Amino acid sequence: MVISLVGLPGGGKSTVGRQLAKRIGARFLDSDAVLEERIGMPIRQYFEQFGEAAFRDHEEAVIDEITSHTPDVSLVLATGGGALLRPMNRERLKARTTVVYLRSTPDELYRRLKHDTQRPLLQVADPLAKLRELYEQRHPLYEQTAHYCVDTGRPSVATLVNMIMMQLEVAGVLKPGA
Ligand code: S3P
Repeated sequence: MVISLVGLPGGGKSTVGRQLAKRIGARFLDSDAVLEERIGMPIRQYFEQFGEAAFRDHEEAVIDEITSHTPDVSLVLATGGGALLRPMNRERLKARTTVVYLRSTPDELYRRLKHDTQRPLLQVADPLAKLRELYEQRHPLYEQTAHYCVDTGRPSVATLVNMIMMQLEVAGVLKPGA
């Protein structure tokens, strides 16, 4: 069983994913970390040298590999915030995994990310405007792909993990008390 987390950058996919994996005794993978290992450099540097399209090709290949041969391994996968821009990623994640959307508002993300130097798309004069634009463009894609949605707003990481677990238990995806 694979649970994948989708949502805008800074919404907590990796932090929440790691904790969720611990709670349910699953493996945790961050597709960005797998990608950085594969491309041999930080994502920001790769974007600068080779551009976003080349990065998205690698991302699509990595997501395909991770989700295609783990049917009997329990896995929580944190995806990159732009992964769902590619239709194949939307299709594969929806068909092969249980997709949870961590929904955050642009203002909330801005508060968390205003000092970020690693995310290539946010190295712009007005990161809040960029986050608003990303939200407009991507929120519909996250919504149409996700099986479940959790608002990241105020709750702590532990609370968010509990909220996700409750939704998955009610839906029968996770066994209660797992
Ligand atoms: C991106 C988000 C990043 C990373 C890359 C592109 C995006 O992942 O994949 O910098 O397009 O939003 P996080 O969502 O983990 O920051």
